[in-house]
Amino acid sequence: MKKFLLMVALALGCSVLVSAQVSVKEGRFRKGDNPAWSQAGFNDSDWQVLSLEKDWTLQGIQNPYGYAWYRIHLVIPSSLKQGSTDRIVLDLGPIDDADETFLNGTLVGKTGSNPGDAAGFVGEWQTPRRYLVEPKLVRWDKDNVIAVRVYNGGDPGGFYARPICLGKPELADFVQLTMVKKEDRHQAVIHAKAQSRGLVKVVVRDVLEDKVVSEKEWKATVSPRADVAIPVTMQGQQQVTVTYTDDKFGETLTASASAPYILTPPAPATPRYNGPLVFGVRPGSPVIFRLAFSGEKPMKYAVEGLPEGVSLDPDKGVLSGSVAKAGDYPLVLVAKNAKGEARAEFTLKVGARIGLTPPMGWNSWNCWGLSVSQEKVMSSAAALINRGLADYGYAYINIDDAWEAEERAPDGRIVTNEKFPDIKGLGDWLHSNGLKMGIYSSPGDRTCGGYLGTLDHEQQDAETWNEWGVDYLKYDWCGYRKVFNPDPDHSVAAYARPYMKMQQYLRQQPRDIFYSLCQYGMAQVWTWGHAVDANSWRTTGDITDTWESLYDIGFKRQVGLHPYAGPGHWNDPDMLVVGKVGWSNSLRDSRLTPDEQYAHISLWSLLAANMLIGCDIAQIDDFTFNLLCNNEVNAVNQDILGHQAHMDLEEDGVQTWSRDLYDGSIAVGIFNLNEETLPVDLAGALAKVGLEEVAKVRDLWRQKDIPMGLYHIAPHGVLYLKVTVK
Ligand code: GAL
Repeated sequence: MKKFLLMVALALGCSVLVSAQVSVKEGRFRKGDNPAWSQAGFNDSDWQVLSLEKDWTLQGIQNPYGYAWYRIHLVIPSSLKQGSTDRIVLDLGPIDDADETFLNGTLVGKTGSNPGDAAGFVGEWQTPRRYLVEPKLVRWDKDNVIAVRVYNGGDPGGFYARPICLGKPELADFVQLTMVKKEDRHQAVIHAKAQSRGLVKVVVRDVLEDKVVSEKEWKATVSPRADVAIPVTMQGQQQVTVTYTDDKFGETLTASASAPYILTPPAPATPRYNGPLVFGVRPGSPVIFRLAFSGEKPMKYAVEGLPEGVSLDPDKGVLSGSVAKAGDYPLVLVAKNAKGEARAEFTLKVGARIGLTPPMGWNSWNCWGLSVSQEKVMSSAAALINRGLADYGYAYINIDDAWEAEERAPDGRIVTNEKFPDIKGLGDWLHSNGLKMGIYSSPGDRTCGGYLGTLDHEQQDAETWNEWGVDYLKYDWCGYRKVFNPDPDHSVAAYARPYMKMQQYLRQQPRDIFYSLCQYGMAQVWTWGHAVDANSWRTTGDITDTWESLYDIGFKRQVGLHPYAGPGHWNDPDMLVVGKVGWSNSLRDSRLTPDEQYAHISLWSLLAANMLIGCDIAQIDDFTFNLLCNNEVNAVNQDILGHQAHMDLEEDGVQTWSRDLYDGSIAVGIFNLNEETLPVDLAGALAKVGLEEVAKVRDLWRQKDIPMGLYHIAPHGVLYLKVTVK
């Protein structure tokens, strides 16, 4: 089964080529398959013209499966001949799913495999294609034809990310430097496709002290037959950067690794409130709210100013009941333990809007995928409480795909499969602990995982979910494609239709159901998600635990979306990929480096993103806890203004994002998207984004005020700050 995932375009553009000379944005296109279409002389003048930057579904290609061909005409200038090597490189970007590429009739590359091949169909939609081409195949200064045979096993199909480029190869086409982690040991490995000689350099930094500990360099020769392996050892809070500079190209490759260093200071033993400052509930709907205080247990809780109808469990700190009358109810939340007492001002907002701050919680997908079971959900839910994450405001426990039975009951009612013997019991348990239950379905007849969807049972399912105690619905487009694609109406109204229909029934239920749209950002959902009364909408395809995915989803596709988020309606860049993930029964540590994980959580905090933990909470380690439970970082995400950050500056691979906070300060993230450590003059970096009259700068991860001066940001790392201006 090929899962439907919207494409992740890689961070690479044409600029990755040292000297890209040709870039082409369009090609001729035809569905079907014919070997004659690879030939340069074939007449394709009646073929359709298609953008290479958008996939098939976005360009109205009906039934976007199976074979199709692109024919791309271009003049290749002879100036490309004078390179440091004799070959040129064809940089095609990612293609969904498998391709065979011909230049003037000769096969020059193939990625993935087709159904008829010995290996069977293997999609490689995320892999950027870079094919080295012999100069003798090129017709210099004349028309050339790149013919690409594409096989697509599922939506969306074809080229989709960026223009294709042609240019001189770069070092990375011949030599690769990668950091490999085996068990707990790191090794940098240099692998060469052609003989190369160059300089290896290993720099060890102490991240917390922000200084270089050691530096070593030596000359090395790498040949295609023998990789060079460099053992990398780090102690404590150290980060190691290995570089290789090739003599002939003069270019440098970089790889780095760091130990998972902890920045968040441990919480004090005295009670401390870490939760949101507001909570929205509709009149008459159940109030389900857990007071989020860290500190030594046991704790006794109290709430001052509780409206009629709501009561508190003083041992668990759980509010329940309901409020009949709309209005703002100012409360004081109090927690007491052996070490002291804490009080927090808080407003219970009874009115039409819910989801006043981004939802925080857990979802089963990024860890368990289709192997999810009630037992696994329960295990993460219990750990949310026992390991203390509920003390930081994480409250939703969301079951993703694969809870549904093979068939509906004879009366049409949706039922769970054998992995979920008692979903109502699960809901009751969650509610009695102040946690909320989420569920997943599709407006189509099938979900993405091939399970039963809701099509034609909208009202019935909404009623069933209400009975089970569902507080959150993730409604995933997937199977709805079967209804949508054949219909010529692809207007925004047509995209919105299934979502409006469901919302009508959700709103009829006597409980609040956070409504989360999942349709990967189609038809710019952020511009109309609010109008269908959604509480959040996914803005992209699925995230995965790689830098390419994080870069694409976070640093590329969220730019400019800030005007569309606010209390009650949020942009959702997908769930978190820290901790143990795996989308299956077998889990692994997130493949993001520690610095990338800091960048990930910082960006999601800035973006006012849904904070849905994607790992198995029962197996959470101290590093992951430190990422998820920094109360100052989370306070930005939960800030009651709900102003999503905007990108203020992108320069030399550095992005600076900021957002206004309700206390008048500004959260600023300076992200180093480069492979090298970045020295930053703090005053200069802040001045560049208009923050000149600065009274105070606080490092949010370290939770301490810092002076102006020179700081170093790790590769793919972040400096996450709260700035107070005079
Ligand atoms: C995808 C969705 C994922 C997950 C999956 C379940 O379409 O984007 O987040 O829900 O379906 O099959």
